Amino acid sequence: MTLHNLTILGATGTIGVNTLDVVARHPDRFNIVALSGQNQIDKLVEQCRQFRPKYAVVLTPEKAQELKAALAGLAIEVLYGVEALETVASLPEVDTVMAAIVGAAGMRPALAAARAGKRVLLANKETLVMAGQFFMDAVKAGGATLLPIDSEHNAVFQSMPEPYTGNLHVHGVRRILLTASGGPFRTRAVETLADVTPEEAVAHPNWVMGRKISVDSATMMNKGLEVIEARWLFNALPEQIDVVVHPQSIIHSMVEYQDGSVLAQLSNPDMRIPIAHALAYPERVATGVNWLDLPKLGQLTFESPDTRRFPCLGLAYDALRAGGSSAAVLNAANEVAVEAFLDHRIAYLTIPATLSKVLDRLGGRPASSLDDLSAIDTEARALAIETITAR
Ligand SMILES: NC(=O)c1ccc[n+]([C@@H]2O[C@H](COP(=O)([O-])OP(=O)(O)OC[C@H]3O[C@@H](n4cnc5c(N)ncnc54)[C@H](OP(=O)(O)O)[C@@H]3O)[C@@H](O)[C@H]2O)c1
Repeated sequence: MTLHNLTILGATGTIGVNTLDVVARHPDRFNIVALSGQNQIDKLVEQCRQFRPKYAVVLTPEKAQELKAALAGLAIEVLYGVEALETVASLPEVDTVMAAIVGAAGMRPALAAARAGKRVLLANKETLVMAGQFFMDAVKAGGATLLPIDSEHNAVFQSMPEPYTGNLHVHGVRRILLTASGGPFRTRAVETLADVTPEEAVAHPNWVMGRKISVDSATMMNKGLEVIEARWLFNALPEQIDVVVHPQSIIHSMVEYQDGSVLAQLSNPDMRIPIAHALAYPERVATGVNWLDLPKLGQLTFESPDTRRFPCLGLAYDALRAGGSSAAVLNAANEVAVEAFLDHRIAYLTIPATLSKVLDRLGGRPASSLDDLSAIDTEARALAIETITAR
């Protein structure tokens, strides 16, 4: 049995909490070195009391002050800022980093973990969407082990031959099939989508997730981001990645081989399963999740995605095919639009309209460095805000 020393970035979020749930079941296997949070200081304090990390990290000096006061008397060093997140992601005593900060903010610490050669458990899909090539280069240069946490990519990883060399052809893989639940609006009348509220959009039928990713699931932008993520994780072309709607969320994704075989990973929809798989990899540990009862489920069904209902999925394929910084542009515009929607500043259908406009104007530009990407990200956010404000 291997003892892993962990940093959990985004410990207070949905993925972070599920990670700590698995860790708590196996105190002999996992030791927490660092935890990070941003606004939920009470939750971070509670986690620090339970897991006694060496470091606790927040983003601002004000939050650090608040955290320090609450942790007085405990031997926990409080740090703040993006550099501190990078530091705890690359500490020599840490071998495994869970990258579970939401959005573009998660990219720098995830890159730091990759460069430092850690086992990187990547939940933050935005890192691959924005900077796929740079991140995969960092993984290679740092000698890191990359383990996907997104349930779909974790399922693909589990259905691939080991070790996967990054060449689909060599392994006889024809296609990656990402499954999608279809979210809360799969069967809602298309004419009523204009009236969707944030409360309806975050009510996912199968998964409990953060608010941003829940809206992304409703628009299927989440699946679009996952197509881009799969492109980088498995070195696949856009035409080698397909999406199948599977409303029960039991098959988490599949790999189709040249001989016609299709391998899949199945389980009840609970993020503790992919998290535990990556935490203990290549070993297996218990998660406490209910066993899969197929006779009770009775049926698994499948359909093609409705591109009229879910234009964001098509936009993600467009961005992937356009290459350069297009995926980063799409991601930036999406973060701005989803935030505006959650704040009741724009209507649900304004999300795809904004993305389409920003992608038309800024898509396809080359990006030869992370600084280029960062500049394009800023420009795309500004254009998305301008587009939203002008409506
Ligand atoms: N939830 C899922 O089932 C799921 C599945 C697959 C992939 N993912 C991906 O995993 C990532 C995390 O998702 P989630 O659902 O766990 O999100 P979440 O519940 O919103 O949690 C996000 C975490 O990041 C922290 N955070 C937010 N903004 C930050 C910033 N600017 N700097 C530093 N930390 C920041 C939050 O801190 P506070 O909460 O303390 O403010 C929280 O700890 C996302 O990239 C998502 O796409 C999630």
